[in-house]
This record gives sequence, C-alpha cells and structure tokens, in this order.
Amino acid sequence: MALKASRRGRVPPFIVMDVMRDAAALEAAGRKIIHLEVGQPSTGIPRVAAARLAPLIERDALGYTVADGTMVLRERIARHYFETYGATVAPSQIFVTTGSSAGFLLSFLSAFDAGERVALAAPGYPAYRHILSSLDVEPVLIPTGADTRFQVSVAHLDAMRQDRGGLPDGLIVASPANPTGTMIPEDEFRSLVAYCHEHDIRLISDEIYHGITFGPRAVTAAGLSPSVIVINSFSKYFSMTGWRVGWAVVPDDLYRSMECLAQNHFISPPTLSQWGALYAFDGMEELNANVERYARNRLTLLEALPKLGFADLAPADGAFYIYADISRFKEDAATFCRRVLHDAGVAITPGIDFDPYRGDKFVRFSFAVSEKDVAEALVRLGELGLPSNRD
Ligand SMILES: Cc1ncc(COP(=O)(O)O)c(C=O)c1O
Repeated sequence: MALKASRRGRVPPFIVMDVMRDAAALEAAGRKIIHLEVGQPSTGIPRVAAARLAPLIERDALGYTVADGTMVLRERIARHYFETYGATVAPSQIFVTTGSSAGFLLSFLSAFDAGERVALAAPGYPAYRHILSSLDVEPVLIPTGADTRFQVSVAHLDAMRQDRGGLPDGLIVASPANPTGTMIPEDEFRSLVAYCHEHDIRLISDEIYHGITFGPRAVTAAGLSPSVIVINSFSKYFSMTGWRVGWAVVPDDLYRSMECLAQNHFISPPTLSQWGALYAFDGMEELNANVERYARNRLTLLEALPKLGFADLAPADGAFYIYADISRFKEDAATFCRRVLHDAGVAITPGIDFDPYRGDKFVRFSFAVSEKDVAEALVRLGELGLPSNRD
C-alpha cells in the first residue's frame, strides 16, 4: 500500500492521559482509585456562573461568535488585568481561544515558521514540545535543576548564544510551572522579558497557573514588552477544564494572523463556554476557597511525603503539583508509578512525561483533589512500605 501516515503526526503520547486510561481500567474492574495524576480541579465552574447559564440555553441559539471571542468577554478579561496586576491591556489585544491548548497552536503558527527553534525548560509541560514538533518547529530543551528552580534563566540563554547553536527564535516559560509548581523570581522574570525583546526572541509566557500561588503573587508579562505573547486559560484557577476556553494577550503584529488562523482552524471558541467564563469572574469567592483548599493539601503533602521517603521535593511555589525526586527508590518512574497504581490504587504521573532526560527519576503529585482524597492517598502510600528517609 502506497499510502502512509505523516511523519510529523507521530508525536509521543501525553503520558498522563495513558495513566488515566490505566486507572480507568482498574476502576471499571471495581477498584477505588485516588487521582493524583491529572492536573485538574475536582471542583466545577463557580455555582453563580452555572446558575446563569441554564436560562441562556433555553433562550439563546448559542451560534458561532467571532473568531477571537465576544467583545463582552474580551472587555472583562482586560479589566481582570487591571484589577489583578494593575496592568493596562486593551480588549483589542485579548484573543479568546478554545482552551490554552488552542492558544499555543495559534501562537506557534502565527509566530514561527517550520525549521525555527523554540527553547523551553525540561522538565516542562509536554504538549509545548509535541505541538511544536507537529508543526516542524524544533523544540530546544534546556535541562534545568533545583539551582534555578527548574526554570530557564537569562544565564541559560546567554550560554545558548555561545555554544548551543545560537539564540532561539522563541522561548516558552511558565511561572508557576507544570510539573514543578516553581516560579521565576520577579527580577529574573523581568530580565528574561527584556532580554527576549532585545534579542528578537518571541517570548511566550504561559500564565495558566496564575491565581494559584502560595507565596509571592505571579507577575504577568502582559504590558512588559510589546512582543510577548501571554497565554492563559479558564481551566485551572477558574476550575473549568472541560469547558475548553482560554485566552491570549497578542501583540499587534500577530493579531490579524491569529484571527485568520482561528477562523479557519476553529471558527470560534465554544459559545456557551464564553458565557460561562464571563460569569465565572463573579465567582471569585468560591474560586479563592478552592485555592485555600489547594494550600492546605500542599502543606499536608509537604509534611507527609518526606516521612514516606520522598526526600527531595521541588519548591511548590504555585499551581497544584509536587515534583518529587525518587532516585533513592532505585526504580524507574514509569515502573514505580505502575506499582503505586496497582498496589496502592493511587494514580501519579512519571516525570518522563515532562523531561525526556532525567524524568525517569521523578514523579508528579497533583493536589487539586479534595482533602479527603489526599489523606486517603497518604494512608495508602504509607501501606506500600517505601524505604523511608531513615532506611
Ligand atoms: C502548563 C499548562 N499549560 C497549558 C495547559 C492546557 O490547558 P487548557 O488547554 O485546558 O487551557 C496545561 C494543562 O494541564 C498546563 O499544565
């Protein structure tokens, strides 16, 4: 047969989805699984928002909107920048997307040509590099460690200039990050934004975990440079993963290109979800209560995990993850996670999803679940009898 599947379509799996599939198979067989693998809130859209949507479904045709989202939502998001960061962002810069995932696709397509190079930290969110590869844009992974809070720094870029094929065409950062939860300190963040602008590196700042921080608040790149693309989403802080709605703050030179790309790829972001997103801004009290729950879960895990033998944890500044070094267990992460899932009924994600170099020595715990589930997971992990710090 002469027909073939494309080379660029052969991206690796998003391993967390594979873990979810294995967990679902055990659940189908009657096991109760605690889900600490997936990065999604166990809560839903704020109740005030849900209540306002029901009459809309009755009354409204909910047809397509324009490709970059309704003006009322774009205006509300622009106001959010002023209220949250004191930043002035015009509604004309806001682009509503089908989750931040579509925001990445549209940004990468509008900013980079095939063959260009985009740098990003390892460990990092796997879809960045897989989306880039599927577009024939080269992901250039920068191995990062605890010394830079697993984040890219200006020093890394300077080193690339000398000896790693020159400066990249783009850079993706996330602060707080997935899988580590670590943040780039404010001074370093501002220096990175300035460095990228000065050296014609298109910076993409993934701000999806803003609003979920446990120390200093995150700084937005919006307004810090005219060339940066900011990506955000209603999935995490706003607790709306399945609604598939997010947004980007787009520089003037890319806006029209993104609009044409979005018209052709998606027509428009989901209409009901855009209304839900607008109303979700009225549910901040409920959303902040979710963040307080994450904070309690984080403290519980930071205290309990070292006692169970997970000695080396990345500083979880924000998001809802703890990235733990498991090298002392002398088992690769995929085997370890399979064993924990089958023997303890606790689903966690192997670091190999996030870092092809050293990820087999790390696992990620997500604590976006209930406090009860965290407590139960810890009991079950304790029963596994992992070698403790004292062994
Ligand atoms: C860092 C990061 N960015 C983006 C996404 C994608 O989110 P969504 O497409 O739901 O907005 C995720 C999901 O886990 C993530 O962790």
